[in-house]
Amino acid sequence: MITVVANLKGGSGKSTVVFNLALWLQSCAQPVVTYDLDPQCTLADVGAVRQEEGYTPPLQVYQQDTALPEQLAYHPGEVLVDVGAANMPGMRDALSVADRILIPVPPSQPDVWATQRFLSIIDEALAGRDRPPVEAFVNRADTHRAVRESDETAQALGLLEGITVLDKRLCQRTLYRRSLSEGLAVFELAPRSKAAAEFHAFASTLYPQHRPRRRRRSAA
Ligand SMILES: Nc1ncnc2c1ncn2[C@@H]1O[C@H](COP(=O)(O)OP(=O)(O)OP(=O)(O)O)[C@@H](O)[C@H]1O
Ligand SMILES: [Mg+2]
Repeated sequence: MITVVANLKGGSGKSTVVFNLALWLQSCAQPVVTYDLDPQCTLADVGAVRQEEGYTPPLQVYQQDTALPEQLAYHPGEVLVDVGAANMPGMRDALSVADRILIPVPPSQPDVWATQRFLSIIDEALAGRDRPPVEAFVNRADTHRAVRESDETAQALGLLEGITVLDKRLCQRTLYRRSLSEGLAVFELAPRSKAAAEFHAFASTLYPQHRPRRRRRSAA
């Protein structure tokens, strides 16, 4: 299944989500490859950090400008594509073959507007083919109940046509920042953390057919 994680806005959490989702799928013993179509190469960089640090399993990241449909379709397992507005041709190529489009949206009105514009780009890229599921979710949601922006953003997204809003959100948490800088998923960094629990709930919603396997302790 090809899941394209995309958004017009920078810094919405695409690379963070692709990196953590890919490692979560690997923890479920699923074969997974990722494509970093962003010229900034964040995903490729974090994959390199993971490899340099010797963390296992390594993450397969293809860093390139475009993702050819036949190349994406070649992989038997899960495929995750990280792409943003810095590479519009690559984004259109990826969207045109996506089985699912996943849109992280930080809680703000400009991000909702950008998502609305992005939906038109999706329609253009699909060029008449059946629309795959387009799923948006609030990333960097506020952890404080009194702050209403996350709920308001989810509501506003729900008014957009052709989009499903996931009820699972990812909150603004330091562990997500550490995840990218250290080359470890949030559930590897702190398995009992709130970030790990919310990420597991989020990933299980996206991939209900998969379940993490317990890691065996290596013999001493
Ligand atoms: N839920 C979160 N909580 C805290 N920090 C987050 C969260 N999601 C992302 N971040 C941080 O926000 C920054 C931007 O995230 P990320 O690089 O994943 O976004 P992006 O959409 O890939 O950005 P770009 O458009 O520049 O490629 C990073 O420092 C990341 O660690
Ligand atoms: Mg990125």
